[in-house]
Amino acid sequence: MAASQPIFLFLALAALTATISAHNITDILSGLPEYSVYNGYLSQTKVADDINSRQTITVLVLSNAAMSALAAKHPLSVIKKALSLLVLLDYYDPPKLHQLSKGTTLSTTLYQTTGNAPGNLGFVNITDIQGGKVGFGSAAPGSKLDSSYTKSVKQIPYNVSVLEISAPIIAPGMLTAPGPSASDVNITAALEKAGCKTFASLITTNGVKKTYESALEKGLTIFAPNDEAFKAPGLPDFSKLSNAEIVSLLLYHARAGYTPLGTLKTTKDPLTTLATNGAGKYELKVTTAGDEVTLHTGVDASRVADTVLDSTPLAIFTVGSVLLPTELFGKSPSPAPAPVPTTSPSPAPVLAPSPVGVSPAPATASPPAPPTDTPGGAPTDAPSHDSENSTSDNAAGHVNASALVAVLVTVISSFVLSQMPV
Ligand SMILES: *[C@@H]1O[C@H](CO)[C@@H](O)[C@H](O)[C@H]1NC(C)=O
Ligand SMILES: *[C@@H]1O[C@H](CO)[C@@H](O)[C@H](O)[C@H]1NC(C)=O
Ligand SMILES: *[C@@H]1O[C@H](CO)[C@@H](O)[C@H](O)[C@H]1NC(C)=O
Ligand SMILES: *[C@@H]1O[C@H](CO)[C@@H](O)[C@H](O)[C@H]1NC(C)=O
Ligand SMILES: *[C@@H]1O[C@H](CO)[C@@H](O)[C@H](O)[C@H]1NC(C)=O
Ligand SMILES: *[C@@H]1O[C@H](CO)[C@@H](O)[C@H](O)[C@H]1NC(C)=O
Repeated sequence: MAASQPIFLFLALAALTATISAHNITDILSGLPEYSVYNGYLSQTKVADDINSRQTITVLVLSNAAMSALAAKHPLSVIKKALSLLVLLDYYDPPKLHQLSKGTTLSTTLYQTTGNAPGNLGFVNITDIQGGKVGFGSAAPGSKLDSSYTKSVKQIPYNVSVLEISAPIIAPGMLTAPGPSASDVNITAALEKAGCKTFASLITTNGVKKTYESALEKGLTIFAPNDEAFKAPGLPDFSKLSNAEIVSLLLYHARAGYTPLGTLKTTKDPLTTLATNGAGKYELKVTTAGDEVTLHTGVDASRVADTVLDSTPLAIFTVGSVLLPTELFGKSPSPAPAPVPTTSPSPAPVLAPSPVGVSPAPATASPPAPPTDTPGGAPTDAPSHDSENSTSDNAAGHVNASALVAVLVTVISSFVLSQMPV
């Protein structure tokens, strides 16, 4: 029973925060060969995942000729910016284009959410021009309305609207400021600047940085714990790990392939990492609640905090905790008579010394029995019960998801950490 608690909590969390993806832009465009070049770049830059993770959105598509002209002259990092500026974070169908108040409006775009767009460069000006023409241009002062609406492609009211426009919308400076090419990025310097000095020094001294760099060309995503994460109380004693285990632990903090935030949000299957090999799975599960993405190792959970760098093919994020793989840190921390972990594929030396530290937490943190046969409705007993009888002004039955997630994450981590050998 005790051993199933973390799993139970994890399932409750997963059920609560499952991503709802109502549309698939790749699928919508796949039946339309006139947009195949555009569609290909949406996938390659992973802008498609960002589109699928959002609701109430308008995608301005370009014909193959217009898209090819743009793509021929620019690197992928610039193409990604240009595509991001064509994704409006609001729903515009053809009638709405002609009903703009005062005939003109500014719409925010996906580009604005990247943090790469200074000022209002992430906004697009939509203007209903006399004669029924609708023009699009950058919202930056002095920009021309160089692009115009040509036809409607598809609408799923009021979730996604796909409209064709004549030409890309170019914000000033966008084309001349390519992202750093992967080989130019000094990973160590970027990590240090982002407050991950300990991690930067660990990957350097253990030679793992070289492994990262050799994976870089084909795409790399790094989840770097910040310096506070290494000072967290209850962290296992890493000095008890062998060199090979340290290397596995560090490789576990990165994965092959470019996986920006929008892609993490739409990820359903567990992610493999650079530590994944025949002997151990070393995978990460991902859950999403709104804009918040959490990685689950099976031992602990960590929020993806900041995006340090997002430039195809490299993405670097900071995470709030050191990611502890079950392959190294076990998953059955119960001091109660649990089966001896002989089934573990790899040795788990750190589990050897039995926990001496305080352990009042597990008892109090114990949730009610796993609701294996409970009919749907109450994802978790305690918190939803609480909110049902809440005096808050929320509508009855409305669960404050972020508060609930925070509680669950805290419970999980305090439970797990309290079981760690000190
Ligand atoms: C729009 O999105 C919502 C939320 O994801 C979904 O429930 C609904 O079915 C979608 N509408 C259509 C027409 O697909
Ligand atoms: C979206 O559609 C494409 C093409 O039909 C498919 O390959 C892909 O797996 C779909 N993505 C999701 C998240 O369902
Ligand atoms: C959009 O651009 C046009 C032409 O430059 C300008 O007249 C209009 O004021 C702009 N709209 C907004 C909302 O700024
Ligand atoms: C990368 O940055 C680190 C730390 O700032 C520095 O010590 C190192 O020399 C840099 N490496 C290169 C190749 O510039
Ligand atoms: C809420 O809890 C209070 C005190 O525990 C109880 O008196 C009250 O009946 C409960 N209200 C509902 C709606 O369950
Ligand atoms: C939900 O709870 C969090 C944390 O307690 C709080 O910051 C937030 O304002 C609450 N949101 C709503 C909609 O009540």
